[in-house]
Amino acid sequence: MKTLEAHDVRMTFRIPGKPPLEVLKGVDISVEEGERVAILGRSGAGKSTLLHILGGLQKPTAGKVVRVSRPGFVFQSYHLMPELTVFENVYLPAMARSGGKAELKARARELVSAVGLDSRADHLPSELSGGERQRVALARALVLSPAIVLADEPTGNLDEMTGADILRMLTGLSSGSTSLVMVTHSSAAAAVCHRTLFLEDGVLKTVRDGR
Ligand SMILES: Nc1ncnc2c1ncn2[C@@H]1O[C@H](COP(=O)(O)OP(=O)(O)OP(=O)(O)O)[C@@H](O)[C@H]1O
Ligand SMILES: [Mg+2]
Repeated sequence: MKTLEAHDVRMTFRIPGKPPLEVLKGVDISVEEGERVAILGRSGAGKSTLLHILGGLQKPTAGKVVRVSRPGFVFQSYHLMPELTVFENVYLPAMARSGGKAELKARARELVSAVGLDSRADHLPSELSGGERQRVALARALVLSPAIVLADEPTGNLDEMTGADILRMLTGLSSGSTSLVMVTHSSAAAAVCHRTLFLEDGVLKTVRDGR
């Protein structure tokens, strides 16, 4: 079963008085249940733009995206709520849910612990390091157990050991049939994925397919 499919996705940024910026020129991607896909590409190639479009956070200029359900999203710049604690940030996506509060709270607590922030659960984001914030963002993306996780450089600000812990968490997800699309510059992160795609000149090229 496919958890995500995009066809001929195009994105052109138009700023008045400046030449249009054609970032995506016809991207096709299809992700199977439990599959992990790495997206590589130079800075400015359009990786974050593509991930936002795949996640439904940004509307493409043209093209079609089909998802089975709402994805969990790990932003490149975290997007944590500054006035909420670590635990509250992780629990936040669950707030709008009507039922299962006790279970979701337990799940949020479990995730805070899984990303190694047990002792910081009551701290504010401003009291955390960059890598700690990134781990909060990851825990938050997982709290509703999404069918697909979209992660924008989830190990970008982490040391090798913490990065490896995060990758273990992300790969552990797939055993539960969760799909993962991860933008990364790290070969270690790409190595835990089934496929590696390269975004260049507005299109995705397959550089490795280990399926
Ligand atoms: N809202 C916007 N308006 C105009 N241009 C934009 C907008 N968002 C992104 N761009 C441009 O689109 C291009 C792709 O940006 P994007 O953030 O997707 O790149 P990226 O591949 O994620 O880069 P990085 O590796 O540095 O994070 C850049 O040249 C950027 O300036
Ligand atoms: Mg980016």
